[in-house]
Amino acid sequence: MKAAVQTNETAQQKTGVRVTESEAESSGTKTASSMKEASKQISGIKTTDRVRAASGQTAEMKEAVAQIETVVIKMDESDIDTDAVKQAGKILRQGGLAAFPTETVYGLGADALRAEASRKIYAAKGRPSDNPLIVHICCMQDLEKIVTDIPKTAKKLAEAFWPGPLTMILKKNDKVPYETTGGLDTVAVRMPANKIALALIRESGGYIAAPSANTSGRPSPTLAEHVYADMKGKIPVILDGGQTGVGIESSIIDLTEDIPMILRPGCITLDMIQNVIGQVRTDPGIIEEDSGCRPKAPGMKYKHYAPKADLFLVEGKSESVVKRINQLAVQCIKEGKKVGIIGTKETAEFYNNGIVMSIGGRQEEEVIAHNLYKILRDLDNYDVDIIYSESFSTPRMGQAVMNRLLKAAGHQVIEAV
Ligand code: TXA
Ligand code: MG
Repeated sequence: MKAAVQTNETAQQKTGVRVTESEAESSGTKTASSMKEASKQISGIKTTDRVRAASGQTAEMKEAVAQIETVVIKMDESDIDTDAVKQAGKILRQGGLAAFPTETVYGLGADALRAEASRKIYAAKGRPSDNPLIVHICCMQDLEKIVTDIPKTAKKLAEAFWPGPLTMILKKNDKVPYETTGGLDTVAVRMPANKIALALIRESGGYIAAPSANTSGRPSPTLAEHVYADMKGKIPVILDGGQTGVGIESSIIDLTEDIPMILRPGCITLDMIQNVIGQVRTDPGIIEEDSGCRPKAPGMKYKHYAPKADLFLVEGKSESVVKRINQLAVQCIKEGKKVGIIGTKETAEFYNNGIVMSIGGRQEEEVIAHNLYKILRDLDNYDVDIIYSESFSTPRMGQAVMNRLLKAAGHQVIEAV
């Protein structure tokens, strides 16, 4: 806490823009003037150090990353602050970073067609440079400008699901730098279904490279507050559009193979995709701990989505699960550990120890996905040492939710009998 406050003070002296931690934490509305200052930080002749700093190339530069002030601007999808979006678009066009809401999770954006801009994303997130970024577009005409060809399957899927939470892997052309694709000859593209995101993409020139706006390895952000917690001092602006709807990241499908392959499950499911384009495979590397093959999406091999606490999934019949979690919680408390429990509307009242969070009704899969990352972050804020979670293999989005939970838990599963 103290260090963060000091950082703000240093930044204040340097730039004259005052954003205290408590102000930004409460996501107070910021005026366009503080945004203009943020834009100046990026564009000003004397501030090239800051711009270079965001690429984090040296220890000294990394130090300077911590000096950027982060402005949070609240707006509603139905009432977009166009001035703020224009300013954020300008920051992106000048090669800077801006975080924004999508319908899935918040994204950390940079101009996808500029190598040095994409590089800043890796530095701000602490992301391995072999993990490619998703390019966000706002209209179909822009797709053909960055890929070598658009297969029929892509056209059909775009018609069915765009704008929406589906990412397609296609063959890139020379316009897309390898910094954006993690060295691959393919590029991931999606058109998000959030009006703030679409307006920002338009303002920024059409192509925003954006991973989820969390520090690498942390749960994806579903609120601007989550982005602020991870990115404060590293990026000039966060557009705050409230809590994201879907709550887990887009489904990813690779269309560069003979048979299209799902690389990451999401709310656009295998069945939904098959209904549109026929035969589809699922990458065996995405759900098993050790399927003997590497996941095709480089990002899926990393321990991901993880809370700070040690997370265990407890599987079995509902009654046995509740009984087992209660036993485990008592044991942990005896050992002096703080325990968090993720249950459901149906079971929450039966847990008698620890900090109990209900993720939603067992059958409400959209609600479970919507709440998942927020609950993991909320439990982190309670400083729990250990989390026991029920598992949620619901019929439609169950695979997507379980994929995230298993990764968050590092595949630590306890069978309740
Ligand atoms: O919903 C989402 O997709 C969010 C929002 C912000 O759009 N974005 C997101 O990005 O989740 P990120 O970077 O956290 O996840 C992108 C995933 C990574 O696992 C990455 O390895 C994979 O997509 N990916 C990107 N480009 C790829 C490519 N050319 N080939 C295979 N996998 C790719
Ligand atoms: Mg991510």
